[in-house]
Amino acid sequence: MMGIISAPARVYRTHPILFSCSIALLVFGLLCARHLLHDAWTLAALPFLWFRHADRFMISAEADGFDLSFANYSEHQVSAAPFADRVPPVFHHISLGSGAASHSKWMDVRQDCLDMHPGWEAFLWTDDMADSFVAKQFPELKHMWDTYRYPIQKIDALRYMVLYHYGGIVLDMDLQCKRALGPLRRFEFVSTEAHPAGFSIGFMMASKRNAFVGKLVRNLPRYNRNWLGLPYPAVMFSTGCHYASTIHAFQHNRSELKILAGPKDNFKLHSLNGPVSTPIFNHLGSSSWHSYDAAMIVTIGKFGGGKTVLLLVGAVGVTFFVIRRTKRRREPVMLKA
Ligand SMILES: *[C@@H]1O[C@H](CO)[C@@H](O)[C@H](O)[C@H]1NC(C)=O
Ligand SMILES: *[C@@H]1O[C@H](CO)[C@@H](O)[C@H](O)[C@H]1NC(C)=O
Repeated sequence: MMGIISAPARVYRTHPILFSCSIALLVFGLLCARHLLHDAWTLAALPFLWFRHADRFMISAEADGFDLSFANYSEHQVSAAPFADRVPPVFHHISLGSGAASHSKWMDVRQDCLDMHPGWEAFLWTDDMADSFVAKQFPELKHMWDTYRYPIQKIDALRYMVLYHYGGIVLDMDLQCKRALGPLRRFEFVSTEAHPAGFSIGFMMASKRNAFVGKLVRNLPRYNRNWLGLPYPAVMFSTGCHYASTIHAFQHNRSELKILAGPKDNFKLHSLNGPVSTPIFNHLGSSSWHSYDAAMIVTIGKFGGGKTVLLLVGAVGVTFFVIRRTKRRREPVMLKA
């Protein structure tokens, strides 16, 4: 025994009731917080789990015979033929609050995309329309949707709802189409890769009543927490890119939930991080019209927070380390006093 008794055992011997109560409280606390702990774990796991079986869901030349450069497709190809079109010909643009609808520049950018897809149905979701749509189609989510703290959360949640209900293509107002998106309509769900992990919700296309998009809608209440009390995590983890990517990463079979990235030697070819030009879009950058939020929130909410999560995990680790060191250094001093 060498005279060494572990601290819990010593407390148990001297204060058995206190010890048992503490353990009971701890177990009770963990039980109460189990959903929070589980959800927090899923979010933190994204950077590590995202690339599991990536070869099954990343669109590729080898598995899908798809030309990732799009050079082989006509700029005007609005259908996936000879493949079946699984994504219906519908466009959704969202402009809530004093958003893009009041700025002719963004309306022109949107119109360019519509002109490249003649005859497609096109929704421009403004406040009144969105209000009655959510009330009618998702009444159980209406209160939550109304009381989201940040306007960008309302926009994000609405993306999933309209995409689920109608199917089609959800596109940010600042994404300028360089060509028709027909070649991608053969897949049930498509979004573009976001760096360092996950996908960008600024562009998503899906079949009508797609099961995965349904899960993006149904899980909204569960992840609607004021994560760490800070705006970035709140937006990213409750509705944003990190939220959607986490749901994706935890699907049993992700092979139909396609992600558009570049080939291995140019993986970021289709990434929409920052003001970039990809084979299908010019990303013009929307911070100028999101007057209600810092550009950072918008950017992180849309294009992923893998880095931020890593930072947070690191910060928590360092904090624990520092606390332990500080305690250790303090102990002898207190003993002397
Ligand atoms: C593009 O077309 C060329 C010529 O028809 C062909 O050799 C090439 O394999 C195609 N690339 C892809 C990725 O489909
Ligand atoms: C996943 O689903 C696809 C088609 O939906 C199927 O072909 C494939 O075998 C499934 N993979 C696994 C591992 O179950």
